[in-house]
Amino acid sequence: MKILLIGANGQVGYELQRSLACLGTVISTDRKQLDLTNNDAIRAKVAAIAPDLIVNAAAYTAVDKAESEQALAMQVNANSVRVMAEEAKRLNILLIHYSTDYVFGGEGEKPWRENDPIAPINYYGESKLAGERAIEETGCHYLILRTSWVYGARGNNFLLTMMRLAREKPMLSVVADQIGAPTWSRHIADATAQIVAQYKNSQTSLDVYWQSRSGVYHLAASGQGSWHDFAGAIFQFMAEQGEDVAVLSKTTTADYPTPALRPLFSCMNTDKLADTFAIRLPDWRDSLSLVMVSFDSKA
Ligand SMILES: NC(=O)c1ccc[n+]([C@@H]2O[C@H](COP(=O)([O-])OP(=O)(O)OC[C@H]3O[C@@H](n4cnc5c(N)ncnc54)[C@H](OP(=O)(O)O)[C@@H]3O)[C@@H](O)[C@H]2O)c1
Repeated sequence: MKILLIGANGQVGYELQRSLACLGTVISTDRKQLDLTNNDAIRAKVAAIAPDLIVNAAAYTAVDKAESEQALAMQVNANSVRVMAEEAKRLNILLIHYSTDYVFGGEGEKPWRENDPIAPINYYGESKLAGERAIEETGCHYLILRTSWVYGARGNNFLLTMMRLAREKPMLSVVADQIGAPTWSRHIADATAQIVAQYKNSQTSLDVYWQSRSGVYHLAASGQGSWHDFAGAIFQFMAEQGEDVAVLSKTTTADYPTPALRPLFSCMNTDKLADTFAIRLPDWRDSLSLVMVSFDSKA
């Protein structure tokens, strides 16, 4: 199996290089090798590689900056994705793509199901939703895996920012009224690889296998918490490892204005993924403890 992995330098893309490696030949591209602002370059790359599977982990993920760089966010999160989907359709291969909890409006208390009404409240969410629609419109075989609050030991993320601030600052206020599920990049990559392995092992033709399985799935950690809960868990691990950490307090979304609005409730129901592929990610606190081991100098 020849796998074209796009966005290999991102949090999820980096982990996918490792997770997909046992399933075939992975041809990884980062921004230097394939810039998603160039649609012709995407077509040329796919034609040159002729992959059996495209996995797109690249995205414009700067949620606040997307408000002022709308054209760029739309190009990377939707227009380029349409080209990938058209190429997947042309080659009759599967496209795996990631989307976000931010397609939901965020007024609710019940974890969102895949078919619940979508109503993004920021431009990043708009552009990711446009990417989902572009894929669906082309009619290729696809998996859109919506995930949330991605973090890991590498990359630009809340965990590493909190670890830095915990050391630098005496006190820190973190938003306590946005609820979601922090999801480890490695678990997203591992779940993706398991889905691909199931398809590979099925010995079923692509058309038959994906006929009933193509679609949108929620892939996020179990459990829920606020950004404040997430920071609290990180600080606790650091303190247990003997570090002096900042004193943590709560703030509200209203008192911490940002250029992009954020949904207050963005937990996702992951039953469809569990029912279809028998995959369910652990509780976010358990995943976090696995990640924190990599920072434990005594481990
Ligand atoms: N991060 C989250 O909290 C979160 C939450 C929900 C869903 N998601 C979704 O999950 C997926 C993976 O996210 P992630 O956290 O791994 O993202 P990430 O760490 O921000 O990585 C995104 C990658 O896309 C690349 N990229 C951006 N613009 C590009 C362009 N013009 N051409 C080529 N590459 C470009 C970036 O390249 P550079 O390294 O060169 O910048 C980066 O490596 C995305 O679809 C994202 O929307 C993420």
